[in-house]
Amino acid sequence: MARIIAGIASSHVPAIGAAIDNGRTQEPYWQRVFSGFERSKEWMAKANPDVVIGIYNDHASAFSVEIIPTFALGCAAEFPPADEGWGPRPVPVVKGHPELASHIAQSVILDEFDLTIVNKMEVDHGLTVPLNLVFGSPKEWPCRVIPLAVNVVQYPPPTGHRCFMLGKAIRKAVESFPEDLRVVVFGTGGMSHQISGPRAGLINSKFDKAFLDNLTRNPKKLTRMPHLEYMREAGAEGIEMVMWLVMRGAIDDTAQEVYRFYTVPASNTAVGHIILENRQRGAAKRRAAGQPRRKAATKARRAAARAKTAARRSQ
Ligand code: DHB
Ligand code: FE
Repeated sequence: MARIIAGIASSHVPAIGAAIDNGRTQEPYWQRVFSGFERSKEWMAKANPDVVIGIYNDHASAFSVEIIPTFALGCAAEFPPADEGWGPRPVPVVKGHPELASHIAQSVILDEFDLTIVNKMEVDHGLTVPLNLVFGSPKEWPCRVIPLAVNVVQYPPPTGHRCFMLGKAIRKAVESFPEDLRVVVFGTGGMSHQISGPRAGLINSKFDKAFLDNLTRNPKKLTRMPHLEYMREAGAEGIEMVMWLVMRGAIDDTAQEVYRFYTVPASNTAVGHIILENRQRGAAKRRAAGQPRRKAATKARRAAARAKTAARRSQ
């Protein structure tokens, strides 16, 4: 059975991608940002997921005002990097997982979430920058990635509650997929930022930090936050943070925060990042600890108890 081992989230600022692509990561300004992801890269290498479900938003690259799907699930085998105006980023093509993606589409749609199925799509910085942050710049991305594009660009975006409930439906779908896959759900976007208008440059660290606290401890509170509050407190593009709630809905209520990073700014944006692990259950926990499977362990324990009783009797 496939299972979700963790949920992670990070901002997706395009200038972070430009810093990587132009070899500027060692400059002090960028070093401050990238240093916060060193631990995440180690965590990712250790977690070694088979599949990442990347919740991101398209910035008028694959879609435009002509078609605005609220939730669009990438079911293709490959998703090339989009040309966002200065040529496609020099990053690997994202390899999807059409079998799991189709299974999620079926399960979630029959659970009454009307997803759009996308069989051809280019992906922009919304997806590729977060992948760089946790995987670095490899020749090939080390796992399959299923993109789920959420409309947070054109009014009306979905509510935080709807995103959270979609996460729950995705979890149910993943857990009913027969293959043994380890899945990480990756929410992207945010944190506070506004890139145009009189409030351009707005950053609200107090709001962002409270959002991170609530994401771990009280996500239900966040699901009740109206769009206007995101916009007022976190800027027009702060609404991207509803995508983090898809991730939060897909993991355990009791998921443990194992890492957090926050720095201001990168370009116009507050950069936030969090890793939430599902508590390992039963067999997975024993496997991770290098312990024998339950049957063998139980047998060994019973044999030891029998030997102890026999030894006591013979004294
Ligand atoms: C910036 C941030 C974004 O999320 C985005 O999509 C575009 C630009 C910025 O900080 O400049
Ligand atoms: Fe964005």
